[in-house]
Amino acid sequence: MLFNHVNLVNQPMNITAQQLRTKYLEFFKSKGHEIIPSASLVPENDATTLFTGSGMQPMLPYLLGAQHPKGTRIADSQKCFRSQDIEEVGDNRHTTFFEMLGNWSLGDYFKKEQLPWMFEFLTKEVGLDPKFLFVTVFRGKPDINVPRDEESAVIWEGLFKAAGLDAKIVDNSERDGIQGGRIFYYPEEKNWWSRSGVTGNMPVGEPGGPDSEMFWDYGAQRQIHEKSSYKDQVCHVNCDCGRFVEIGNNVFMEYVKTAGGFEKLKQQNVDFGGGLERMLAAANGQQSVFDTDIFDPMFQVLELDQEIMSNDEIRKARIIVDHIRASVFFAADGVEPSNKDRGYFLRRLLRRSMVMGKLLNLKHHWLEALMGKVVAGYAESYQYLLDKSENIYKVILAEQKKFEATLEKGLREFEKLMQKQGEVKGKDAFDLYQTYGFPWELTKELAEAAGQKVDREEYEGEFKKHQDLSRTASAGQFKGGLASHSDKIVRLHTATHLMNAALRKVIGEDVWQKGSNITEERTRFDFTHNTKMTPSEIAEVEMLVNQWIKMDLKVKKEIMPINEARKLNAVGVFGEKYADTVSIYTVYDEKTGDIISREFCGGPHVEHTGVIGEFKIQKEEASSAGVRRIKASVF
Ligand code: SER
Repeated sequence: MLFNHVNLVNQPMNITAQQLRTKYLEFFKSKGHEIIPSASLVPENDATTLFTGSGMQPMLPYLLGAQHPKGTRIADSQKCFRSQDIEEVGDNRHTTFFEMLGNWSLGDYFKKEQLPWMFEFLTKEVGLDPKFLFVTVFRGKPDINVPRDEESAVIWEGLFKAAGLDAKIVDNSERDGIQGGRIFYYPEEKNWWSRSGVTGNMPVGEPGGPDSEMFWDYGAQRQIHEKSSYKDQVCHVNCDCGRFVEIGNNVFMEYVKTAGGFEKLKQQNVDFGGGLERMLAAANGQQSVFDTDIFDPMFQVLELDQEIMSNDEIRKARIIVDHIRASVFFAADGVEPSNKDRGYFLRRLLRRSMVMGKLLNLKHHWLEALMGKVVAGYAESYQYLLDKSENIYKVILAEQKKFEATLEKGLREFEKLMQKQGEVKGKDAFDLYQTYGFPWELTKELAEAAGQKVDREEYEGEFKKHQDLSRTASAGQFKGGLASHSDKIVRLHTATHLMNAALRKVIGEDVWQKGSNITEERTRFDFTHNTKMTPSEIAEVEMLVNQWIKMDLKVKKEIMPINEARKLNAVGVFGEKYADTVSIYTVYDEKTGDIISREFCGGPHVEHTGVIGEFKIQKEEASSAGVRRIKASVF
C-alpha cells in the first residue's frame, strides 16, 4: 500500500464533497458574498488559454476593475483543468480536473479580513487541527518594488497564537529546513500568483500579486518521507515529498504589469482558491485525494480494491478515474475528441485511460459503469451532467470504439512477439506503432508488466529512420532529393523559435539563447540556466511547442530599423551584432493577434507552424557553467 490509513493526525470529520462545497459557500455567504455558478471549462471570450485552469480566469475583467453584476464579494466552486499536471496524476494530490473553491474581493476587503476568515473556516468549520496547518508568505522583490509581506506574516502569527500555538516565522526554509517554523517566506517562484507565473513572465496588462498559501501536514506521509527518494533532501512545506500539501492560496492581487515594470491596480483584490478534493482529504484524515468520497465509488464500480493493489496498479487506477472524470466534464462542456486543441486533450485522456484499463484487465463495460458513477456522484451539484448524460456517453464511447480495434490487434501481435522471442525490441515497438498505431506507452507498460524494458533509443532511431526515408522518397519523387534536407532544416528553424519561447515560459525570462546549430537531423540550442531541467519541465516545453504547432500559427517576417525592433521586445542571441536594419520573425495567432515568439533572425522559416510535425526533446545536458544544451528534433 502506498498510503495507509494509520497515524491520523486529525480527529477526522466525516464530511462529503457535497457537504464541504456547501459549507464553504454558506460560510462566505454569511460574510456577505454572492454565490455564483461555475463557469465552463471552455473559457468564454478568452482565446489565450484552451481551458479554465483556475477560478480566477473567468473573473479577470472584474479583477481589473470592471463592475461585477453581483457586487464586490463573490464566492463559487469553479471547475478547472490543468493539462500540465497530467504526468503527476497517480500521486496522493494531483488530478487534471479539480474544483477550486473561490472567494473574491473585488476592491473590497483585503488581508486582515481574508486570513482570519480562512483560519476560521479551516479550523472551525472544516475542523482542521491548526497544529498541522502551515502557511507561506511572499519574501518580497525589491527590484520591482514589491515589499516582503510582513503584514500577512503578522496576521497569521496572531491567529496561530490565539489558537494556543507557537508561530515562528522562518526565512529560507527551502535551504535550511523547517526549523520549528509555522510561517515561511518564499520567493516569487512560490508566492507570487499570476496566470503566467512569475513576474518576468507576465505580459503587459496582466494582473498578479503576492500570495499566502496554506499547507496541510498529511501526517503519515512523514514515514514515507523517511523511506522515500526525497529522504536526503531538505524537507520544507513546498518540497515535493508529499508530506505537505497545499490546500488553499490567498492571492492579494493588487499589481498590474506595465511596460516599465509594475504598478498598483486601481483596486486591491483578494483571489482565494482552494482545491476541494485536497481540503476534503485533509478534513477526513485521508492520505490522498483518491481516498475521498469523490473517487471511492469510482474504484468500487471498477471492482478495484486499493487495499490489495500494488503501488503501480494504484497509480494506473488513479489515472483512469481522474481522466474519465475530466473527460465527462469536458464532454459536458461541448468538447469532442480530435487531433487539435481541446479535442486533442480529450482524446489523450481517453486513450490513456483505455490503455491503463487494458493493463489492469478491467472487465467489459467498465467505461460505461465509470461514467455513470461520475455523473451520479456530481448530479446534485451539477445537474446538467445528468441532463446531458446521453450525449456525454455517446461522445466518449465513440472514441473508445475507434481506439479499441487498434488496441486488440496490437495486443495480439505483442503476445506473439513475446512468445516467439521472449522480449520486445525497440524495433518491434516501432513496428507495432507503424502497423497498428499501438502507442509507445502501451508497449512499454505491457513489457514492464512482463518484467522487461524496451529500448527507447532503438525505437526512436527506427522512428527517425522511417521518417527520413519517407521524406527522402517523397522529395525524390517530386523535387529531386534536395528538398528533403532544406525542408527539415526550415521546420527545425521555426521549432527552435517556439522552443525558445516555451523555455522562457516554463523556466523564466532569464533564459537567454547563447547559440544554436541546426542540421538536418536536429536543432542544438544553448541557453542560460543554472540547473538541470526536471522531467516535468522538459515535458511542459514539449507540450507547449506541440500545442503551438497544432494551433497552426502564422509566421511573419518584417524588416525594420533595429531601434524599432528593440521596442518590440524581440529576443535574439545576446552579444551578436546586428545591422541597422534587421529582420524579425513573429509567430502569432491570426485569430487573436497573440504573439507567441518574436526574434531577430535571418530565417528561413515555415509560413505556418502546422507543417512542423511533432516536436521532441531528445537530450538536455550541461554545456558550460550556467549554460544548458538541448537537442531536439521534429518528426
Ligand atoms: N488564482 C489562484 C490559484 O489558482 C488562487 O485562486 O492558485
